Amino acid sequence: MTTAPNVPFDQREGTIWLDGRFVEWKSARIHVLTHGLHYASCVYEGERVYSGSVFRLRAHTDRLYRSAQMLDFAIPYAKEELEAATAELIERNEIVNGYVRPIAWRGSEQISTSARATRIHVALACWSWPSYFDPAAKEKGIALQTAKWRRPPPVSSPYEAKASSHYMIATLCKHQAEANGFHDALMLDWRGQIAEATSANIFFVRDGVLHTPTPDCFLDGITRRTVIDLARERGIEVVERPMFPDELDSFSECFLTGTAAEVCPVGRIDAHAYQPSTITFDLMGAYSERVNQVEGALAHE
Ligand SMILES: Cc1ncc(COP(=O)(O)O)c(C=O)c1O
Repeated sequence: MTTAPNVPFDQREGTIWLDGRFVEWKSARIHVLTHGLHYASCVYEGERVYSGSVFRLRAHTDRLYRSAQMLDFAIPYAKEELEAATAELIERNEIVNGYVRPIAWRGSEQISTSARATRIHVALACWSWPSYFDPAAKEKGIALQTAKWRRPPPVSSPYEAKASSHYMIATLCKHQAEANGFHDALMLDWRGQIAEATSANIFFVRDGVLHTPTPDCFLDGITRRTVIDLARERGIEVVERPMFPDELDSFSECFLTGTAAEVCPVGRIDAHAYQPSTITFDLMGAYSERVNQVEGALAHE
């Protein structure tokens, strides 16, 4: 099922899986007095479909259930049930290359900080989605601007959860970067160390070595881990360490990794320029090859 990309998400055609049933897309609605909407008691995933299958589906399913647990609720379906529904949904919507958005949230039984009596709702939606960043910008390398807002310390929230509440800062940062003519924002953490982009992890290259910040207060992405493995398989040294903005001039290449962004070259951070080159292109190619190995264990691990 294809819908023009500028049609609002609630006006599209197709099928959504909601609380155990396949329903007509436009009828998948919630009430305004929903706990998840008021208190951000909500977790989600972003999964990519390649040739009709989700890449690393089990890793995403595991993270969804862990995220819910970190927000003090349990998803009321078996993982296998949700994964089977995902596969059927992709088929029903005729998605070949696209994106799946699983989401779980607290319902309307209580509108208060305490929410133990709320029912847990789960939905799955999917749509065709070729590229997160404009392909032309991606070819040259996208531009990032250092954001004013920072990733909070690990004691302030369960940072390993892919929780909706963590994205309010990302939206503020991305809006500011876009208003200033950049494609995305580079977020520092509470200490002023380099953290990540608004929905992707970041890597740098210096003298043939990959450097990436230690994910001790932001998401350790599934793509990040795949790319680290691919780099090591190719004999590229990968260093995970605290990284600082005053190092930005010392790197030759920079790229982002994420389920949506895939491996995306960065051409500039503020006034620091990078030239996408051998290592970035090698890993872009390797990632593309890996995600397209849809047969066998890799696609479902
Ligand atoms: C804030 C943030 N960081 C990093 C990532 C990359 O994670 P993954 O590679 O698991 O998609 C994402 C995307 O999910 C994200 O939203």
